[in-house]
Amino acid sequence: MGEENIYNIQWFPGHMAKTRRMITESLPDVDAVIELRDARIPLSSKNPEIERLCSSKPRIVVLNKSDLCDPDELPLWIEAEKKKGAVCIGVDSSSGKGVSTVGRSVTSACAEKIERNRQKGFSVRIRAMVVGIPNVGKSTLINKLAGSNKAKSENRPGVTRDRQWVKTDYGFDLLDMPGVLWPKFDNKICAENLALTGSVKDDILDLESLSIVLIDRLKSRYYSLLAARYKIPQQQREADAIELFELIARSRGMITRGNEIDYERASRMLIDEFRSGKIGRITLDRLNRCLI
Ligand code: G4P
Repeated sequence: MGEENIYNIQWFPGHMAKTRRMITESLPDVDAVIELRDARIPLSSKNPEIERLCSSKPRIVVLNKSDLCDPDELPLWIEAEKKKGAVCIGVDSSSGKGVSTVGRSVTSACAEKIERNRQKGFSVRIRAMVVGIPNVGKSTLINKLAGSNKAKSENRPGVTRDRQWVKTDYGFDLLDMPGVLWPKFDNKICAENLALTGSVKDDILDLESLSIVLIDRLKSRYYSLLAARYKIPQQQREADAIELFELIARSRGMITRGNEIDYERASRMLIDEFRSGKIGRITLDRLNRCLI
């Protein structure tokens, strides 16, 4: 089995075909596509086929979870997307920061159609759909864009969950069913990034190996964050990932009765603290590797 197969394990060709079909069937009903990516891994969280699938519609690229990414990196990724002609916005869907810019961008991307409708006297509303890989924040963004409109439609009894539209406060309707895309599993680094950020199930790698991968990544670019969080002495700068892991586990008292490192607890703690931003604001993808 080649490397690609190992990392493709959860995404069977049948699932991909179903998603392609779902998107292709929904596209004629929408005027714009909101493509979510994770701002910590703007490259690894990009679906490899999204541009081709949605080429006929204006696409708004949202780098979500921007509250968790490196604030110095975010503008560079946004700039890189803009250079390719895309509309790209950094958003924190949890707090709502940037959500109104997404709303306004959808209407400006569809300005010509809105004007054509107006001239013809049509009162047709613009429609959009949200797509992205699992766990990237699609439902959270949909809820924020829909605001109070969402609660109203959900409370109506007997309404089928299939292809509901919710009104937003920005003058367009949103397909209340996000398109779940498969991520970019084309190399080991992408797959690890997806596992580290929690976008795919943890079983791609065992948690202990994943936490060593995490330390290795942080060691080169975010050593100061790691050292500050886990009180690692400066003279350990040259320690390898396993030595750092053990120092971290000991500094947190994660040792067993026999004075052994509790690898399982320490790995879980490290991954959880990374995912929740407790170690700091971190971007794992490297722009100079970026071929998007
Ligand atoms: P999905 O529909 O794409 O699968 O993702 P969903 O909205 O369910 O969000 C997945 C997780 O990511 C949720 O956390 C959600 O709160 C969190 N999230 C979404 N957008 C943002 C964001 O911009 N910033 C941050 N920091 N988190 C975000 P969870 O732990 O799975 O659930 P819960 O803690 O919200 O209950």
